[in-house]
Amino acid sequence: MTLKDKKIVLGVSAGIAAYKAAELLRLMVREGADVFVAMSANAGQFVTPLTFQALSGHPVYSEVFGSAASASMEHIRAAEGADLLVVAPATANCVAKLANGHADDALSTLFLAFAGPAIVAPAMNDKMYANPAVQENIAKLKSRGVRIVEPETGELACGVVGMGRLADPLRIVEEVKKRLARAADLAGLRLLVTAGPTREPIDPVRYITNPSSGKMGYAIAGQARDRGAMVTLISGPTYLPKPDGIEFLPCQKASEMLDLTLARLPECDALVMTAAVGDFAPESVRKEKIKKSGEPLVLKLSPTPDILLEASKIKTRQYMVGFAAESQNLVQSALEKLRKKRLDLIVANDISAPGIGFQSDYNQVTIIAGESDIERLPLLPKTEVAGVILDRIKAGVRKG
Ligand code: CTP
Repeated sequence: MTLKDKKIVLGVSAGIAAYKAAELLRLMVREGADVFVAMSANAGQFVTPLTFQALSGHPVYSEVFGSAASASMEHIRAAEGADLLVVAPATANCVAKLANGHADDALSTLFLAFAGPAIVAPAMNDKMYANPAVQENIAKLKSRGVRIVEPETGELACGVVGMGRLADPLRIVEEVKKRLARAADLAGLRLLVTAGPTREPIDPVRYITNPSSGKMGYAIAGQARDRGAMVTLISGPTYLPKPDGIEFLPCQKASEMLDLTLARLPECDALVMTAAVGDFAPESVRKEKIKKSGEPLVLKLSPTPDILLEASKIKTRQYMVGFAAESQNLVQSALEKLRKKRLDLIVANDISAPGIGFQSDYNQVTIIAGESDIERLPLLPKTEVAGVILDRIKAGVRKG
């Protein structure tokens, strides 16, 4: 692919490698892209805005207040309508600001306001890059779907050899192309995703639930939207922000999630059931708050509907993905669920392993489509696991 007719914002922060951003800009313009440059407060100490203005043919956004470019609504609008934002080089300070939502200069402000796909190419001293604070910030960006183009190992500006040199501009252009190609590869796909826990009331102030954070399902919904799919997200109660650009249907009880899922399934091409549906609910809900009496409280629980099983009974052409939370016999148990619920794919994770699953931003899963199709993925950010699952759905739906 070329970058013809693509609108790209290039963010430049204050590192020695800023001069390489000029080369990156030239490469993207040569490929047909319309590039707008935003600079951090101090980036102009390394390369002047005039250089980027001359190479891009547009005013450079380098000051939040006062400059001609900042006053030009046209320029800001162009940035808002951009297909992609690439920050290169991103210094340690820049990475920290982007990861933590600071907005104190032109680049960080623009990054925060930009809702499209973003790529960040860090460049800094090798010890700074290895510092846990920097790595934590990078992990944060990754977990939000930002693509990180890792720096290369080589001679650094400070004279030492180590990992921290800005990736070759050609490599960054390749990543830009890859990200843009993915940006629309699910166009036309109608995806139904369930996420989060369910919540079954006991009385007006108590309920039964589980520790699902909803992160996996929200990551799938967000990634699918970014890749052009039309997404409906049915979500139990979570602390996550409601994602933009998708249909969002909140619910509480398993029975509500069942009704919403069965109502939406016929118009969808695929269902991804990441929700941690509670298997039991109180047989009856007390109208008044239960008072303590000193005696044990006995609750009678009934099984909730199995949403996937019900969905599989009415499915026609839909590609169905289930999740399996297992604490033993991972593959065997997941295979049984795959068959029983007539699924195309099951994503199994070992809930006894520390640091993954429920609340974490990371997950280590095994993707199973049958006895001879078992793929064990390494520990990855949930956004990357989401990408792999969506690739499988894309391939499966096309076949169907
Ligand atoms: N699931 C569902 N409805 C339920 C329970 C689970 O649709 N009442 C879905 C989950 O969203 C998941 C898959 O079924 O995609 C497997 O869930 P899991 O909890 O691992 O398995 P269960 O079928 O509940 O079996 P068990 O708890 O006995 O392992």
